[in-house]
Amino acid sequence: MQRIYSLLYGVSACLLLIFAACQSLERQENPLDQLTEQATEPIHVRVLWTENPANHAIVSWTTLHKLGDAHLVYYDTISHKGDLPAYAHKVAPIRNGKISIVDEDIEKGMPQGFFHHSELNNLEPAKAYYFVVQSNGKQTEEFYFRTAPDDNRPFGIIWGSDSRAGGERTLPDIVTNALPDAIEDIVLPDYTPHQARQSMNEVIAQLVEDNDEIIAFAHGADYSLTSEWRHMYWWFEDHEEIITKDNRLLPLIISQGNHEVEAGFKENFYLDKSEEGRNLDTFYYNTDLSPEVSLITLNTEISVAGDQHEWLEAALATNRKEKKWVMVQYHRPAYPAVKSFMRQTFVRVRKSFVPLFEKYNVDLVAESDGHVLKRTLPIRNNKPDTSGIVYIGEGGLGVPQRPVYDSARWYVQAPGFVQSAHHVHVIRFSKDSLHVQAIGIDGEVLDDFVREPRAKSKHAFRTQSVSR
Ligand SMILES: [Fe+2]
Ligand SMILES: [Fe+2]
Repeated sequence: MQRIYSLLYGVSACLLLIFAACQSLERQENPLDQLTEQATEPIHVRVLWTENPANHAIVSWTTLHKLGDAHLVYYDTISHKGDLPAYAHKVAPIRNGKISIVDEDIEKGMPQGFFHHSELNNLEPAKAYYFVVQSNGKQTEEFYFRTAPDDNRPFGIIWGSDSRAGGERTLPDIVTNALPDAIEDIVLPDYTPHQARQSMNEVIAQLVEDNDEIIAFAHGADYSLTSEWRHMYWWFEDHEEIITKDNRLLPLIISQGNHEVEAGFKENFYLDKSEEGRNLDTFYYNTDLSPEVSLITLNTEISVAGDQHEWLEAALATNRKEKKWVMVQYHRPAYPAVKSFMRQTFVRVRKSFVPLFEKYNVDLVAESDGHVLKRTLPIRNNKPDTSGIVYIGEGGLGVPQRPVYDSARWYVQAPGFVQSAHHVHVIRFSKDSLHVQAIGIDGEVLDDFVREPRAKSKHAFRTQSVSR
């Protein structure tokens, strides 16, 4: 009996040893397992502009797996190449939190994400700000962005929208549990399904690289298929393509679209309070791009009447007095190039916003949602009028483009047009002109027109020659 017990004891011990050896072998084979559940280094670093980008910016980022601690932005007007004690300023986030996760995120293998938002105040205009983000004792490389000018120098912005895309991928556990570096180095290239969006980001990256005067990227919304984490995660990954070779980040000016209904939108894009104390989570606000240029972002996903209408009238009245150029962006179009003209959302935009655009002679309106490239002819009182408003759009940053069903609509007749083509707009503001170009997925110019200030000529639109 004693021998049987000894034998059993020996076999059990062997089995335990074999099991432990297998476990250790498995760990060796899959070193990423050891990293599971660790809070990670900061990733997805981005800069947001709200009302006063000459003096203020929001720096946001993500950590994975756990909230972590010791979150800080170190910043200065001179580069210190990541030497943290050398930076003149540091600021902690005003908000940290867990990004909402739904069953589909878990099914797709997404690692839990956490958002972090810091405000940089009292910045100097037209300055490069070099910064490093630190979380959990780990720091990013040094990035920089430029604040908006407080003089009348010429500058440009990128404008585009509808970067959502079809196609989803399920991440295997090895990716879900990995730290971001490992994801990027080992697996990421095979698991990003958004080729057209990535191609458009490459076009934007080249534009920013070649045109140093481009100061911001205004986005007309529909970033991803939803604002849930399995979609926003990839949008942030792909957005990193726009970082220049010398690590300049292009500040984002965010609007809300019909694909931004989930909690993840406001969790990941946090705008905080306006200067008057209004909470900017309404996502309608005025951005003073310079003393001469204002960009008004409106929100077609909430009531376009009432508070927003009143606010818009006040904002236009002030801006029209003070600014040479007033541009407006929002998601749902007043003059849709492919979707039904009589759709209620579009009718509401025409009733609430358009009369104010015409009353205050807005210089350019950028619309989204249709997934085609368009320029309308100048419109006033719902008919062609050379003194009217031109609407551009309508969503080309990677979403599949719709075929043009009806190119006979009166508002897309020459010099307007509609075309099915991925695109992004470059809009340049100077003392004497507002220059609009649409650039295609191969970097080709798809539209090109210039207008003079209204004070100079009420009817001044010039179209450059573009082969379409
Ligand atoms: Fe949309
Ligand atoms: Fe869209």
